This record gives sequence, C-alpha cells and structure tokens, in this order.
Amino acid sequence: MENVNLEQIYDQCIKLIHQIKNPILKECCEKILSDYKEKLMRKPASINRYHYYKGGLLCHMYCVAKNAISIMDLYARLKMDSDLIIFGSLLHDIGKVYEYSDFMNNQSDYISNSHEFLGNSYKSIHIIDSYLSKYSIDKEFKDQVLHIIAITHEQERTLPPKLLEAIIVKYADDMDKKLSFVNLWFNKAKKGTQFNLDENELYKSLNEQYANTWYFE
Ligand SMILES: [Fe+2]
Repeated sequence: MENVNLEQIYDQCIKLIHQIKNPILKECCEKILSDYKEKLMRKPASINRYHYYKGGLLCHMYCVAKNAISIMDLYARLKMDSDLIIFGSLLHDIGKVYEYSDFMNNQSDYISNSHEFLGNSYKSIHIIDSYLSKYSIDKEFKDQVLHIIAITHEQERTLPPKLLEAIIVKYADDMDKKLSFVNLWFNKAKKGTQFNLDENELYKSLNEQYANTWYFE
C-alpha cells in the first residue's frame, strides 16, 4: 500500500466510523482520528517491519479494521459488538504517533522509549481514556473498550481476554502485521509469491514474530 492515496484511506476510515451506532464511540473515534490525522499520515506502522512507509500507520489501522469487520461478518452468528470491533481496531495503535518519528528519507525511528517502560498499549490507552473521559460513559463499558486495546498489544499472556471482540481485533492486527511484512519482503525479493526456502529470511523473520505472539493453547 506504499503508493496509496492517504486522503482516500482516511475517508474510508471515516466511512467505517459512520457505521458505529453508539453516538459517544462514534463521535469520540471521529474526533481522535481528526485530531491525529496529520500525524497518522506521516508515521509508519512499525520500525522496519510492516507498513514501513509514510502513512503506514493510517493504512495499518484501516487494514486491521477491514480484517476485523470481515471476520465479524463471517461469524455473524456470534453476534459480536460491531461498535467495539470498529472503534478498537481503528484506534488500537493510536499511541504510536508518539513512538515513531515522521517517515522521511525512507526511514523512521523511535522517538520515545516509553514502550520499554510502560508496554506498547499504554500510550494508546492513555489517549483513548482521556478522550472518553470527556463524555458521560459507563465505567465498565469504558473498561471494555480499553480492554480491546490492551489485549491487542498483549504479548506476555499476563492479561487473558475477556471479550470475543478483543480476540478478533487481536487476530486482525496479527494477520495484517504478518501479511504486510510478507508483502514488503516480496517487493524486496521480486520473486512473486513463491518462497525460496534456501533463502529463508522471510521464514525466520516470521518465526521471530511468532515467538512474540500470544496464542491460545
Ligand atoms: Fe497494530
């Protein structure tokens, strides 16, 4: 998605937000996206891994939302809360706007090491919590919303998921991370979609990610 029109991706995100039925979540989500629009269009989604390009963070948020909505639609009988799915998937990485420098001259880097002290979810939860706190919102419901963000970043199996919606967003995030990283590797290798296991850089790289990924057992 490196050459994607970021304004169009932003508009697509707004369209997804308009599907949110809860008026507080809808207004809050649109406000956060609007307030952080310029930053989201300048940051990558990771450092040298997936969606590593200008605006990659916005593209990752959109892809995770589309993934999660597709899964939710496919398993409609589970009656998941679409508001939580859309809100959580679009905003789960919003805190990265303070983690990475703008993508310039084909690179970006960490500008903060707070993730090392506080974990990857802290900044996102802090931002969302501060916005939601401006509304009269049920405390338990707010905790459920923030739980989606916490679980998406959970890698150490210390916080078990309490909501199906959190599991779906987590998987949607994981799928986009891995497939966009594969895409990056294919673009570098320019070998189509066939893996050359003798040059198993991709395999090892994915395994590195698997090693840090939370699973059900
Ligand atoms: Fe993510």
